[in-house]
Amino acid sequence: MLVAPSVLSADFGNLERDVKAICEAGCDLVHVDVMDGHFVPNLTLGPVVVSAIAASATKPLDIHLMVENNTFFVELFAPLKPEFISFHIEEEKNPHRLIQYIRSLGIRPAIVLNPHTPAEAVEYLLSDLDMVLVMSVNPGFGGQSFIDTVVEKIKRLDSLRKCINPDCLIEIDGGVSDKNIAMLKDAGVDVCVAGSYVFKHESFKKAIDSLHV
Ligand code: DX5
Ligand code: ZN
Repeated sequence: MLVAPSVLSADFGNLERDVKAICEAGCDLVHVDVMDGHFVPNLTLGPVVVSAIAASATKPLDIHLMVENNTFFVELFAPLKPEFISFHIEEEKNPHRLIQYIRSLGIRPAIVLNPHTPAEAVEYLLSDLDMVLVMSVNPGFGGQSFIDTVVEKIKRLDSLRKCINPDCLIEIDGGVSDKNIAMLKDAGVDVCVAGSYVFKHESFKKAIDSLHV
Protein backbone atom coordinates (compact mmCIF):
# COMPACT_ATOMS: atom_id res chain seq x y z
CA MET A 1 0.00 0.00 0.00
CA LEU A 2 1.32 3.41 -1.00
CA VAL A 3 0.54 6.23 1.43
CA ALA A 4 -0.40 9.75 0.34
CA PRO A 5 -1.04 12.13 3.28
CA SER A 6 -3.47 14.94 2.37
CA VAL A 7 -1.96 18.33 3.19
CA LEU A 8 -5.49 19.69 3.61
CA SER A 9 -5.14 18.61 7.25
CA ALA A 10 -1.64 20.10 7.72
CA ASP A 11 -0.91 23.18 9.83
CA PHE A 12 -1.08 25.88 7.14
CA GLY A 13 0.91 28.26 9.35
CA ASN A 14 3.75 25.73 9.20
CA LEU A 15 3.19 24.20 5.79
CA GLU A 16 6.87 23.85 4.86
CA ARG A 17 7.62 22.12 8.19
CA ASP A 18 4.68 19.70 7.83
CA VAL A 19 5.36 18.84 4.16
CA LYS A 20 9.03 18.12 4.90
CA ALA A 21 8.02 16.08 7.96
CA ILE A 22 5.59 13.75 6.15
CA CYS A 23 8.20 13.15 3.43
CA GLU A 24 10.88 12.37 6.02
CA ALA A 25 8.37 10.13 7.83
CA GLY A 26 8.20 7.89 4.74
CA CYS A 27 5.11 8.84 2.76
CA ASP A 28 5.07 7.82 -0.92
CA LEU A 29 3.12 10.73 -2.44
CA VAL A 30 1.95 14.15 -1.22
CA HIS A 31 -1.81 14.48 -1.85
CA VAL A 32 -2.93 18.01 -2.74
CA ASP A 33 -6.66 18.86 -2.71
CA VAL A 34 -7.57 21.66 -5.12
CA MET A 35 -11.12 22.97 -4.59
CA ASP A 36 -12.70 25.86 -6.51
CA GLY A 37 -15.74 26.75 -4.38
CA HIS A 38 -18.06 25.64 -7.25
CA PHE A 39 -17.72 21.88 -7.75
CA VAL A 40 -17.43 21.56 -3.96
CA PRO A 41 -18.48 24.02 -1.23
CA ASN A 42 -14.89 24.81 -0.17
CA LEU A 43 -11.92 26.74 -1.54
CA THR A 44 -8.38 25.54 -0.93
CA LEU A 45 -5.07 25.74 -2.75
CA GLY A 46 -3.99 27.70 -5.81
CA PRO A 47 -0.77 27.35 -7.80
CA VAL A 48 1.21 29.81 -5.63
CA VAL A 49 0.74 27.75 -2.48
CA VAL A 50 1.05 24.42 -4.31
CA SER A 51 4.38 25.55 -5.80
CA ALA A 52 5.57 26.21 -2.23
CA ILE A 53 4.43 22.68 -1.29
CA ALA A 54 6.28 21.28 -4.34
CA ALA A 55 9.45 23.12 -3.31
CA SER A 56 9.32 21.57 0.21
CA ALA A 57 8.27 18.06 -0.87
CA THR A 58 10.86 15.36 -1.47
CA LYS A 59 8.12 12.99 -2.69
CA PRO A 60 6.00 13.36 -5.86
CA LEU A 61 2.74 15.32 -5.82
CA ASP A 62 -0.67 13.70 -6.30
CA ILE A 63 -2.99 16.57 -7.30
CA HIS A 64 -6.73 15.93 -6.80
CA LEU A 65 -8.84 18.46 -8.70
CA MET A 66 -12.32 19.19 -7.31
CA VAL A 67 -13.18 21.90 -9.79
CA GLU A 68 -15.61 22.81 -12.59
CA ASN A 69 -13.15 23.75 -15.34
CA ASN A 70 -10.71 20.83 -15.36
CA THR A 71 -8.62 21.84 -18.38
CA PHE A 72 -7.96 25.32 -16.97
CA PHE A 73 -6.69 23.81 -13.70
CA VAL A 74 -4.60 21.15 -15.45
CA GLU A 75 -2.82 23.96 -17.34
CA LEU A 76 -2.35 25.87 -14.09
CA PHE A 77 -0.73 22.99 -12.19
CA ALA A 78 1.13 21.14 -14.98
CA PRO A 79 4.28 23.33 -14.64
CA LEU A 80 4.72 21.92 -11.10
CA LYS A 81 5.32 18.48 -12.66
CA PRO A 82 3.10 16.39 -10.36
CA GLU A 83 3.23 12.59 -10.64
CA PHE A 84 -0.59 12.38 -10.92
CA ILE A 85 -3.42 14.74 -11.74
CA SER A 86 -6.88 13.34 -11.03
CA PHE A 87 -10.17 14.89 -12.16
CA HIS A 88 -13.79 14.04 -11.35
CA ILE A 89 -15.72 12.08 -14.00
CA GLU A 90 -18.92 13.83 -12.82
CA GLU A 91 -17.56 17.15 -14.09
CA GLU A 92 -15.96 16.21 -17.40
CA LYS A 93 -17.75 15.94 -20.77
CA ASN A 94 -14.63 14.80 -22.68
CA PRO A 95 -12.69 12.53 -20.33
CA HIS A 96 -10.74 10.71 -23.09
CA ARG A 97 -9.46 14.00 -24.46
CA LEU A 98 -8.44 15.26 -21.02
CA ILE A 99 -6.69 11.98 -20.14
CA GLN A 100 -4.65 12.23 -23.36
CA TYR A 101 -3.88 15.89 -22.69
CA ILE A 102 -2.62 15.17 -19.15
CA ARG A 103 -0.44 12.33 -20.47
CA SER A 104 0.95 14.55 -23.24
CA LEU A 105 2.21 16.86 -20.48
CA GLY A 106 4.25 14.00 -18.96
CA ILE A 107 1.82 13.59 -16.03
CA ARG A 108 0.03 10.37 -15.08
CA PRO A 109 -3.76 10.73 -15.56
CA ALA A 110 -6.31 9.59 -12.98
CA ILE A 111 -10.09 9.81 -12.68
CA VAL A 112 -12.06 10.32 -9.46
CA LEU A 113 -15.42 8.72 -8.63
CA ASN A 114 -17.72 10.36 -6.10
CA PRO A 115 -19.33 7.99 -3.57
CA HIS A 116 -22.53 7.68 -5.64
CA THR A 117 -20.79 7.14 -9.02
CA PRO A 118 -20.62 3.47 -10.10
CA ALA A 119 -17.37 1.67 -10.96
CA GLU A 120 -18.77 1.10 -14.47
CA ALA A 121 -18.49 4.87 -15.16
CA VAL A 122 -14.77 4.29 -15.90
CA GLU A 123 -15.07 0.90 -17.64
CA TYR A 124 -14.36 2.31 -21.11
CA LEU A 125 -11.63 4.63 -19.81
CA LEU A 126 -9.64 2.09 -17.77
CA SER A 127 -7.30 1.15 -20.61
CA ASP A 128 -6.10 4.77 -20.80
CA LEU A 129 -5.81 5.46 -17.06
CA ASP A 130 -2.93 5.09 -14.59
CA MET A 131 -5.19 5.34 -11.54
CA VAL A 132 -8.81 5.55 -10.38
CA LEU A 133 -9.44 7.47 -7.16
CA VAL A 134 -12.51 6.27 -5.27
CA MET A 135 -13.96 8.87 -2.89
CA SER A 136 -15.10 7.33 0.39
CA VAL A 137 -16.53 10.66 1.63
CA ASN A 138 -18.34 13.44 -0.23
CA PRO A 139 -15.54 15.68 -1.50
CA GLY A 140 -14.94 19.07 0.08
CA PHE A 141 -13.63 18.55 3.59
CA GLY A 142 -11.21 16.50 5.65
CA GLY A 143 -12.23 14.65 8.80
CA GLN A 144 -15.46 13.03 7.55
CA SER A 145 -16.61 9.46 8.22
CA PHE A 146 -15.88 6.63 5.78
CA ILE A 147 -18.91 5.60 3.65
CA ASP A 148 -19.02 1.78 3.83
CA THR A 149 -20.85 1.17 0.52
CA VAL A 150 -17.72 2.13 -1.45
CA VAL A 151 -16.04 -1.14 -0.43
CA GLU A 152 -18.33 -3.11 -2.76
CA LYS A 153 -17.52 -0.62 -5.52
CA ILE A 154 -13.78 -1.07 -5.02
CA LYS A 155 -14.23 -4.83 -5.43
CA ARG A 156 -16.14 -4.29 -8.71
CA LEU A 157 -13.48 -1.87 -9.91
CA ASP A 158 -10.75 -4.34 -8.96
CA SER A 159 -12.36 -7.05 -11.15
CA LEU A 160 -12.81 -4.60 -14.03
CA ARG A 161 -9.19 -3.42 -13.95
CA LYS A 162 -7.88 -6.99 -13.67
CA CYS A 163 -9.62 -7.73 -17.01
CA ILE A 164 -8.95 -4.43 -18.78
CA ASN A 165 -5.79 -2.85 -17.35
CA PRO A 166 -4.10 -4.58 -14.39
CA ASP A 167 -1.53 -1.75 -14.20
CA CYS A 168 -4.20 0.80 -13.32
CA LEU A 169 -3.94 1.64 -9.61
CA ILE A 170 -6.90 2.05 -7.24
CA GLU A 171 -6.67 4.90 -4.73
CA ILE A 172 -9.02 5.59 -1.81
CA ASP A 173 -9.68 9.01 -0.27
CA GLY A 174 -11.69 9.91 2.81
CA GLY A 175 -11.96 8.56 6.34
CA VAL A 176 -8.94 6.25 6.03
CA SER A 177 -7.12 5.14 9.20
CA ASP A 178 -5.37 2.16 10.75
CA LYS A 179 -8.86 0.78 11.54
CA ASN A 180 -9.96 0.18 7.93
CA ILE A 181 -6.69 -0.04 5.97
CA ALA A 182 -6.36 -3.86 6.02
CA MET A 183 -9.95 -4.27 4.79
CA LEU A 184 -9.27 -1.73 2.00
CA LYS A 185 -6.15 -3.58 0.92
CA ASP A 186 -8.13 -6.84 0.75
CA ALA A 187 -10.75 -5.11 -1.41
CA GLY A 188 -8.08 -4.10 -3.97
CA VAL A 189 -6.79 -0.65 -2.93
CA ASP A 190 -3.16 0.18 -3.87
CA VAL A 191 -2.84 3.80 -2.70
CA CYS A 192 -4.45 5.41 0.35
CA VAL A 193 -4.99 9.10 1.03
CA ALA A 194 -5.14 10.04 4.72
CA GLY A 195 -5.53 13.57 6.04
CA SER A 196 -6.79 13.90 9.59
CA TYR A 197 -5.51 10.47 10.64
CA VAL A 198 -1.89 11.33 9.77
CA PHE A 199 -1.84 14.98 10.82
CA LYS A 200 -3.65 14.46 14.15
CA HIS A 201 -1.44 11.51 15.09
CA GLU A 202 1.23 12.06 17.77
CA SER A 203 3.82 10.74 15.27
CA PHE A 204 3.61 11.14 11.47
CA LYS A 205 5.98 8.19 11.13
CA LYS A 206 3.86 5.85 13.26
CA ALA A 207 0.72 6.91 11.39
CA ILE A 208 2.30 6.36 7.96
CA ASP A 209 3.88 3.05 9.06
CA SER A 210 0.46 1.81 10.23
CA LEU A 211 -0.96 2.44 6.73
CA HIS A 212 1.90 0.65 4.94
CA VAL A 213 0.10 -2.69 5.00
C1 DX5 B 1 -11.78 15.52 0.67
C2 DX5 B 1 -10.37 15.37 0.22
C3 DX5 B 1 -9.55 14.45 1.02
C4 DX5 B 1 -9.41 14.80 2.49
C5 DX5 B 1 -9.22 13.51 3.24
O1 DX5 B 1 -12.51 16.15 -0.32
O2 DX5 B 1 -10.32 14.91 -1.12
O3 DX5 B 1 -8.27 14.26 0.43
O4 DX5 B 1 -8.34 15.67 2.74
O5 DX5 B 1 -9.24 13.79 4.59
P1 DX5 B 1 -9.51 12.65 5.69
O6 DX5 B 1 -8.45 11.63 5.54
O7 DX5 B 1 -9.41 13.43 6.99
O8 DX5 B 1 -10.88 12.11 5.44
ZN1 ZN C 1 -8.34 14.31 -1.99
